[in-house]
Amino acid sequence: MQNDQWKTFLAPYHQAVEELKVKLRGIRSQYELENAHSPIEFVTGRVKPVASILDKANRKGIDINRLEGEMQDIAGIRMMCQFVDDITTVVDMLKNRHDLEVIEERDYISSQKDSGYRSYHLVAKYPVQTFRGAKKLLVEIQIRTLSMNFWATIEHSLNYKYSGNIPENIKVRLKRAAEAAYSLDEEMSQIREEIQEAQVIFSRKTDTTRTSS
Ligand code: GTP
Ligand code: MG
Repeated sequence: MQNDQWKTFLAPYHQAVEELKVKLRGIRSQYELENAHSPIEFVTGRVKPVASILDKANRKGIDINRLEGEMQDIAGIRMMCQFVDDITTVVDMLKNRHDLEVIEERDYISSQKDSGYRSYHLVAKYPVQTFRGAKKLLVEIQIRTLSMNFWATIEHSLNYKYSGNIPENIKVRLKRAAEAAYSLDEEMSQIREEIQEAQVIFSRKTDTTRTSS
């Protein structure tokens, strides 16, 4: 494919990523308006660079003419959560949306990858409106905690630096870091329960104030 052909091919993917970022960030704003805990901390998105598309197609033996159906992460969205439990909330919310059709799920939280990677992945079909009508594109959505994101970002850059061959001693450290990230999530979940209990007590208190005034 030539440069303009790539541009034409990727245009609807850019559209999809931009739309989904706006829509999903909007949900966070809705929670903020109601002063409720948002299960979404922040949302990022990207279209896979052409070089990475070619590289992955090569690695996986994907025909360039079949990218649309066979490469699931040309459009990628990441949703970061504070707490592990928020991930289920976000996943359920995504499954109930009328503008997304979830076709695959990969739960690397219940069963983490050997690398130590944890995240929840959804692959969905998302319709982009074009002047030729609706075009359904594949979108990969990764849902993870801030702690999982921190680890994955670091591990990703090390993989890049060492072209996928991270030295054994660093791998061991990464595994340990993954365990630490897991503990951090566990600790935060405990604190979350504390916070929620406090919020129940607090709302009862404000109710009493209201009826007595
Ligand atoms: P890819 O060929 O990478 O797409 O793998 P896959 O088709 O088996 O899909 P999978 O759901 O396992 O992974 C897709 C994406 O998850 C990757 O592109 C990364 O963004 C992320 N990912 C998966 N495994 C790891 C990992 O071990 N470390 C990091 N940092 N990210 C990972
Ligand atoms: Mg993939």
